[in-house]
Amino acid sequence: MYKYAMHVAYSLVSQSNNIFFFTLSKLNMEETMKSLLDDSFESAMTLTNSGAPQVPDRYVLPPSQRPALGSSLGTIETTLPIIDLSLLHEPLLRSSVVRDINMACKEFGLFQVINHGIPPSVIEGALDAATQFFDLPVEEKMLLVSADVHQPVRYGTSLNHSTDRVHYWRDFIKHYSYPLSKWIDMWPSNPPCYKEKVGKYAEATHVLHKQLIEAISESLGLEKNYLQEQTEEGSQVMAVNCYPACPEPEITLGMPPHSDFGSLTILLQSSQGLQIMDSSKDWIRVPYIEGSLIVQLGDQVEVMSNGIYKSVIHRVTVNKDYKRLSFASLHSLPLHKKISPAPELVGNNAPAYGEFSFNDFLDYISNNDCVQQRFIDTLKKSNS
Ligand code: OGA
Ligand code: NI
Repeated sequence: MYKYAMHVAYSLVSQSNNIFFFTLSKLNMEETMKSLLDDSFESAMTLTNSGAPQVPDRYVLPPSQRPALGSSLGTIETTLPIIDLSLLHEPLLRSSVVRDINMACKEFGLFQVINHGIPPSVIEGALDAATQFFDLPVEEKMLLVSADVHQPVRYGTSLNHSTDRVHYWRDFIKHYSYPLSKWIDMWPSNPPCYKEKVGKYAEATHVLHKQLIEAISESLGLEKNYLQEQTEEGSQVMAVNCYPACPEPEITLGMPPHSDFGSLTILLQSSQGLQIMDSSKDWIRVPYIEGSLIVQLGDQVEVMSNGIYKSVIHRVTVNKDYKRLSFASLHSLPLHKKISPAPELVGNNAPAYGEFSFNDFLDYISNNDCVQQRFIDTLKKSNS
């Protein structure tokens, strides 16, 4: 079994585009530095490959946070909305698709899309490149480990290897992806097909994002370009996740409950594993539909819509038998741009949320215990 010392300080902000509301603890430099000195990096892939029959203690969740993976307990089979995006281009049908999107966003903050225009070969190419990347020898992947959350390319495990109290059965590589020509040279050179295959997928999701954000604007009764203009110069971060087969999936998770920080996340999954929390706080499995993509609302849309839409709280379960891959394409406003509710949606009342920027969010999670409170809840105004 490999163990690699990490010479780098993993920051608390391991998920720069996500908010995790119970895993981040107050920044304590002394503790962080101490843990780094005797720390080692052991990825979920390494553990799976070692054939251990049990997960190490650090992966074991308190009973109340464990996923109920049985057929009846905890998770509910609900039919989640599926939107045929090709119909958005039919002038006579567009308004009814926009209405369906409105209902899906209001009820779940999530929908699946089919006929989205990204060719199957591009999707298969991306999954193939990711498979090859995570199968690389540990030494090769460790070249991309970084402590600096502003690094445009980072490899890691769990959420935040050095500070997570509980670890999650996930390895990941994240990279900035827009504008592609600015970042692609920094992406992994191994496997050799990575840049081309993942680059094609990143470009295609960027185009798809524009169509989706326009339809979502319309579904809120805003100008078609309203949200698109807000996000125009924004960022796209591609989180490529790998959840290897896990010996004890009933006591661990691949990712804890969280909502994504950005405006929209477009998610590609290679098999089932994602769950979302519904308004009754029950967990719903998101079924795997071959060729489809999942669209999730993030915190920025919740604020811009003045709370008409809510960001979706989701988590990832793992399984005993096979590895699951996912691509989460996180679309977000620029770092310093202030986000506030659209005036048209506020009307004569006071806005339901204060304004904030991505940078304010980073400051918050560096200085607060997010176990108790999600960042977005700090923005809610009590008078609304
Ligand atoms: C994420 C995420 C879900 C998945 O990367 O933020 O929620 O299914 N991923 O991997
Ligand atoms: Ni997420």
